[in-house]
Amino acid sequence: MNQLFLGITELYTPFKKIEKPAIAVRNGRVAWVGAAENLPAEYSSWDKVDLGNHSVVPGLVDAHTHLIYAGNRYDEYLRRARGESYEAILESGGGIYSTVRATQAASEDELFDIAKVRALKFMAAGVSAIEIKSGYGLESLHELKMLRVIRRMQQELPLRIHPTLLAHVIPTGWNHKKYLEMFTDELIPEVKHRGLAEAVDVFCDQGAFTLAEARKILQAALAQGLKIKVHAEQIARTGAAKLAAELGALSADHLEQSTPEDWQALAASGTVGTILPGAAVILRKPFPNTRAMWDMGVKIAIASDHNPGSSPLYDLWLAMRLAISLGRLSVEEALIAATANAADALGQSDIGRLEPGAHADFLVVDTPQALLPLYQWGNTPLCSVYVGGQAVWPQ
Ligand code: NIG
Ligand code: FE
Repeated sequence: MNQLFLGITELYTPFKKIEKPAIAVRNGRVAWVGAAENLPAEYSSWDKVDLGNHSVVPGLVDAHTHLIYAGNRYDEYLRRARGESYEAILESGGGIYSTVRATQAASEDELFDIAKVRALKFMAAGVSAIEIKSGYGLESLHELKMLRVIRRMQQELPLRIHPTLLAHVIPTGWNHKKYLEMFTDELIPEVKHRGLAEAVDVFCDQGAFTLAEARKILQAALAQGLKIKVHAEQIARTGAAKLAAELGALSADHLEQSTPEDWQALAASGTVGTILPGAAVILRKPFPNTRAMWDMGVKIAIASDHNPGSSPLYDLWLAMRLAISLGRLSVEEALIAATANAADALGQSDIGRLEPGAHADFLVVDTPQALLPLYQWGNTPLCSVYVGGQAVWPQ
């Protein structure tokens, strides 16, 4: 199918701004994008779609979420707001463990129904591609259950979904060595065999996996041909960001406690540094020095880290606004970080950008100024969300 989108005031690719553009789309992918006045004759007869003098940006890519979980941690949020620490709650068997208990007890259908609602909220807010991690199952049986829920979401929902197997914490009652062996020798090969994940992630931090354990898990993933990524330098500085760089990970995420030495390593390896403003701000941790990282050559992505504990955040735009104000990115850089760079953090070079060959995933912003949602806090006016040239929202 050939479509020609017109009636656009301005568009960000996101690397450059084009005034009065047209987008030619063939079979769901961008064939041509540029100023409408320069439209090559071959596209001028294609089926026209008038976007009504609104603006366009690429569909947002949320490269780090824990979207599937049962229950919530509302009570802990109230306690933390009064001064109790996230770390102490985790150590005493709450935090992640409390979500694990609820998620283990939930059926596959229940988890699907809850996660579907969340995913559609993200889509309505402009997210056209989303990564979803397992990690609240811990036991093999429940990790596989979570990954099957993600697979069903891929089959039934119109946004793009990228599944990741997450080694989150050691389950209660397990010996570290035994759990590690189960994870590397049984779970990772099983997940690979069933095609249930594209990548493996490890929470390498105080109260979770050590650097040596993270290395073993990541190496087991690489040996199976899976991509890797790391929860790095969130609570304590462990060396996980440098490990991510050394092993050629797609991304090192969090980075609240990271140092210039870590940034150098990420910049040199091309590993994306994914900042998670929700977790940094909600847990009252230092905001990653995003400006310095970007200037040192780190490819920066911004993600929601949606989860019931550290980041009950449903809005990637808010994460971008925080990265502008507290991370000192420019508005244009924040858009790049939540689209093209976030796509690179998933190892996907054909989403998150509007250029020939890429999927035609884009947002029609309900104003002539495309970046207005990053200026107006708490107001994100969108007309529609397109995935592969098709309007998926409103339905
Ligand atoms: O990315 N840090 C580890 N994992 C999540 C939090 C999970 C939770 O608190 O439930 C994160 O912040
Ligand atoms: Fe996370």
